[in-house]
Amino acid sequence: MPRLLIVHHTPSPAMDTMLRAVLDGTSADGLSAVHVQTSAALSTTATDVLTVDGLILGTPANLGSMSGALKHFFDTIYYPCLVETVGRPFGLYLHGTNDVDGALVDITKITTGLRWRLTQEPIRVSGPPTTDDLESCWELGAAVAAGLMR
Ligand SMILES: Cc1cc2nc3c(=O)[nH]c(=O)nc-3n(C[C@H](O)[C@H](O)[C@H](O)COP(=O)(O)O)c2cc1C
Repeated sequence: MPRLLIVHHTPSPAMDTMLRAVLDGTSADGLSAVHVQTSAALSTTATDVLTVDGLILGTPANLGSMSGALKHFFDTIYYPCLVETVGRPFGLYLHGTNDVDGALVDITKITTGLRWRLTQEPIRVSGPPTTDDLESCWELGAAVAAGLMR
């Protein structure tokens, strides 16, 4: 059974709404064969990453980059996962008040180092998530999960 891990930092209701939309998407019709877990970025271990087939990362923009929590996740798993997770497919959603560009750049640098494979356009939301934003989150979850079934 393919395994998908959603590693997220969810400090507010807006981001909780996005996480739930992503999670809903992963359980769309036809995707029941994918085993999906969520994991708070601050407590995710290298073993959690080594034992899954794909990931979705979710973070707020903080001080022009990703959250400290997602940075901690990468600090924790980088070297233990560097060899074994080459080519891992992943998706990404970002939320900020007005600018998530720095977070996206920094995540891209680290995931390029890990040689992970971004399979969907990152979801970038500024301000309160709209219905369209949540639909995009749902589609992200569904698309990444569907990709693991191929
Ligand atoms: C310390 C701190 C730094 C932040 N830095 C940024 C930032 O650089 N860019 C941005 O767009 N939003 C920034 N934000 C806003 C957060 O991204 C936002 O609070 C988070 O996505 C949750 O959204 P909400 O507060 O609207 O619920 C920052 C928030 C905090 C607390």
